[in-house]
Amino acid sequence: MALYLVTGGAGFIGSALVRELLQRNEQVRVLDNLSTGKKENLDEVRGRIEFIEGDLLDPRSLEEALRGVHYVLHQAAIPSVPRSIADPLTTHRSNVDGTLALLVAAKQAGVRRVVYAASSSAYGDTPTLPKVETMPPNPLSPYAVGKLVGEYYGRVFTDVYQLETVSLRYFNIFGPRQDPTSPYSGVLSRFISALLRNEPPVVFGDGEQSRDFTFVANAVQANLLACAAPNAAGKVYNIGVGQRITLNRTLEALGNIIGNRPEPHHEDARAGDVRHSLADISAARRDLGYEPTAGFEEGLRQTVAWYKENLAALFKQADLTGATQPGA
Ligand SMILES: NC(=O)c1ccc[n+]([C@@H]2O[C@H](COP(=O)([O-])OP(=O)(O)OC[C@H]3O[C@@H](n4cnc5c(N)ncnc54)[C@H](O)[C@@H]3O)[C@@H](O)[C@H]2O)c1
Repeated sequence: MALYLVTGGAGFIGSALVRELLQRNEQVRVLDNLSTGKKENLDEVRGRIEFIEGDLLDPRSLEEALRGVHYVLHQAAIPSVPRSIADPLTTHRSNVDGTLALLVAAKQAGVRRVVYAASSSAYGDTPTLPKVETMPPNPLSPYAVGKLVGEYYGRVFTDVYQLETVSLRYFNIFGPRQDPTSPYSGVLSRFISALLRNEPPVVFGDGEQSRDFTFVANAVQANLLACAAPNAAGKVYNIGVGQRITLNRTLEALGNIIGNRPEPHHEDARAGDVRHSLADISAARRDLGYEPTAGFEEGLRQTVAWYKENLAALFKQADLTGATQPGA
């Protein structure tokens, strides 16, 4: 049995990692400052994990969190392009300073490997599809810059300090527990919550922009493979499905599942958003043995089922904390 630290483990992807690690009988510790994550995401595993409420930038929390740890799955970050545009300094502190502090502390603690949640936003809007890891990056937002800097630090820590790191460039991950309540939430969670609440979904631009929507189970699989893959240290891998779907088609598929099709409300395309995104996943297949198993429609069905059960409670809680307000 190994000890895993999941930073950001109270968040959407982090809490999915926690549940899978427990399924595999591993030992799990979470470090989270609950800035965008929620303790409720860990309700069903309470008592089976160690939870440290603390910030990446607090040296004492970090030291405590890393004690005796074999693997770090580093998910903690402020994960929003528009929020990084509104407030680049706060995003930088968590995503860049926080990642550097984690790497320094992980090196000191003698961690075997750090797997880092990188982002497909590193590619920006270059027209070439699919995106291959060897393409020059072209970040378009403070968020994308910060995520890319984290990758560079990861590689340098592997080369200079022999701390093994692997960066996984996630492509639009979706699934249960993704927070739909904030204006900064990911597009799929906002669409599902609009349709379930019978509100017009907001589409920025014409809706013909496309994404490689990836069900969260695939990202979880990639993280666990990345801990053990022998030739992966210091490298960067795309984690997607290798299939591109437009927002308009996504709304159609959701309409079929939910049985409700309110007319979308179109707004201007947002600064920093990329037009198309599609992953080449051959490197992850080759080096990690990654194979996406959960498809788009099946993932949507599972996600919708979860939101149906939990949406009312999520919005009630968010209204109480003011998180649904645009400035939040
Ligand atoms: N969701 C996606 O499609 C996607 C795509 C690319 C990359 N990512 C990356 O995946 C990771 C997880 O994203 P998510 O969608 O689960 O977001 P999330 O907001 O649900 O999870 C992030 C977690 O990190 C915690 N956190 C933030 N700053 C922290 C700090 N300074 N110290 C301690 N904890 C902190 C938050 O409270 C939250 O629980 C992020 O690093 C994000 O950049 C996500």
